[in-house]
Amino acid sequence: MDLNLKGKIVFISGSTSGIGFTTAKILLKEGATVYINGRNQLSVEKAVIQLKDEVFGAKVFGLIADFLKVKQVENLLKGLSRIDILINNVGIYSSKSFFETSIDTWQEQCQVNLMSGVALSKHYLKGMLDRNWGRILFISSECAYLVPPDMISYSTTKASMHAVSRGLANLTKGTEVTSNVVVPGSTLTEGSKTFLANKAAEQNTALEAVEKDFFNNDRNSSLLKRFASTEEVATTIAYLCSPLSSATNGSVIKVDGGSTGGIL
Ligand SMILES: NC(=O)c1ccc[n+]([C@@H]2O[C@H](COP(=O)([O-])OP(=O)(O)OC[C@H]3O[C@@H](n4cnc5c(N)ncnc54)[C@H](OP(=O)(O)O)[C@@H]3O)[C@@H](O)[C@H]2O)c1
Repeated sequence: MDLNLKGKIVFISGSTSGIGFTTAKILLKEGATVYINGRNQLSVEKAVIQLKDEVFGAKVFGLIADFLKVKQVENLLKGLSRIDILINNVGIYSSKSFFETSIDTWQEQCQVNLMSGVALSKHYLKGMLDRNWGRILFISSECAYLVPPDMISYSTTKASMHAVSRGLANLTKGTEVTSNVVVPGSTLTEGSKTFLANKAAEQNTALEAVEKDFFNNDRNSSLLKRFASTEEVATTIAYLCSPLSSATNGSVIKVDGGSTGGIL
């Protein structure tokens, strides 16, 4: 299916790997121009080269900025004047009890997960409204609903994104600009693969057994009972970036394998 994305300019925060990287690949295949982002030159250059290798004629560029560093974010905004599609994808987490999680950790997660999207949207939404077309996507998490006891700070930042996205959508009334949230469930990124491999080594057991155990204990509400691939998540993101999704605004779209339950 042609997603009608040729010529659109996209920025994806935190996209040298994982869901953001796969999303970049799909959007490049659709003919969009994509700016990817990471914290250091090496990882950004490596990802740009890989995308150029994998997608013939890819119009892909790298922007280095650490969303924990205000000056670097200011420079990024100065260096990129116009975008049509903003994907607020960058996300960090820690796995610790509430009492062991420091205030600094809370602030870092708020800064990276929530405030990056606020700063980028504040900068780019006005232009989208003036041109009467744009897409803003916030990549949340199943944790916004599940709030695992070892991830309260992360879950809080993700839940807050939903309010920001809905608030922005309310500013788009009567235009062709939309703001939506995508809620991935557990997804097989490099980070998840390392997590599974470490557990398997610790327990001297097979990867499959660790995955099974994870979905029986930590994510027993999952209907999928396996990690989603980054492609399974990124195809939904790509659709929501496209003009085909024009009637979806202020919404929350789950790609959670059913883990968050309920009917909403
Ligand atoms: N993976 C999952 O199971 C899962 C589940 C639900 C939701 N999510 C959400 O989906 C989004 C993508 O997750 P992912 O697992 O695909 O990510 P990931 O594989 O962990 O990728 C992290 C990316 O973020 C970049 N990054 C990290 N800290 C940064 C910072 N301070 N400033 C700028 N870039 C930074 C890294 O770039 P460099 O290392 O090159 O700097 C890398 O490109 C996140 O918001 C995450 O919370 C993931």
